[in-house]
Amino acid sequence: MKIYVSDDYKGMSRKAANIVSAQVILNPACVLGLATGSTPIGMYQQLIDWYNKGDLDFSQVKSVNLDEYVGLAPTHDQSYRYFMQHNLFDHVNIDPANTNVPNGLASDPEAECQRYNEVIRSMGGIDVQVLGMGHNGHIGFNEPGQAFELETHVVDLTERTIEANARFFASKDEVPKRAITMGIKSIMQARQILVVVSGEDKAEIVKKAFFGPVVPQVPASILQMHPNVVLCGDKAALSQIL
Ligand code: GLP
Repeated sequence: MKIYVSDDYKGMSRKAANIVSAQVILNPACVLGLATGSTPIGMYQQLIDWYNKGDLDFSQVKSVNLDEYVGLAPTHDQSYRYFMQHNLFDHVNIDPANTNVPNGLASDPEAECQRYNEVIRSMGGIDVQVLGMGHNGHIGFNEPGQAFELETHVVDLTERTIEANARFFASKDEVPKRAITMGIKSIMQARQILVVVSGEDKAEIVKKAFFGPVVPQVPASILQMHPNVVLCGDKAALSQIL
C-alpha cells in the first residue's frame, strides 16, 4: 500500500485528483470506479478545474459508481446519480452514456444488481476504484459483517450509516433504509484502489482498517489483501498511523 499524507483536505483532494488524472492521461478510455460521500467532492472539483484548463479529456472515459439508495429517483437531490451529475459529470466532457450508477428505482432491485455486474464485466473491469470510508469501516454500502465474496447486491443500511447520512436529508426518517452496492468482490477486482479519507473522526477507523485484523466486521480491512492500494489522507485522518 502507498500512503500519501497531505496537510489538509485541499491537499488530499489534489493528490487524489493527480492519481485519477494519471489514469485518464495514460489510458484515455479507462474505467473509473467512482464514489460519493463528502470526502471525494474536493477531488472532483480539482478534476473539473484541470478539465477547464484543458489538461484532462474525459471523452472516452467510462465510469461506474459504487452504490445508490433504493427508492430514490435520479432527480432526487440526495440520490447518488444526482450527486455525480452535480459534482462531476455535468462539468466535464464525459459521455453520459458511459456513466453508470445503479438504478435506485428498478422494480426488481435484485435483477438490477445482476445487470450492474454485467455492466462492470462488459467494460473489462475497473481501472481505478475511488473509495471513501464510513466510520464503521464500510466501503460503498458494504456494512460490517457482510460476506467478502459478494458482487453487486441489495443491503439494509445500519442505524449508524442512516444517522451519518441523515445530515443530507430533511430528517432521519427520510433516509432510505436500503441500497444497492457493489460488493467487496467487485471492489477487490479493481486493478487499483484509491482510498480518500479526511478529518480526525476517520483516524480510528483508518488505523483499524489498514493495521488491524482483516475481518468482515471492518469491511475496509479486506483492502489490506489488495495488491495496489493508494491511501490518500490528510494529517488528521492519518494521525493514528503515522
Ligand atoms: C456513504 C457512501 C460511502 C462513503 C461514506 C463516507 O455511506 N455510501 O461510499 O464512503 O458515506 O462518506 P463521507 O465521505 O461523507 O464521510
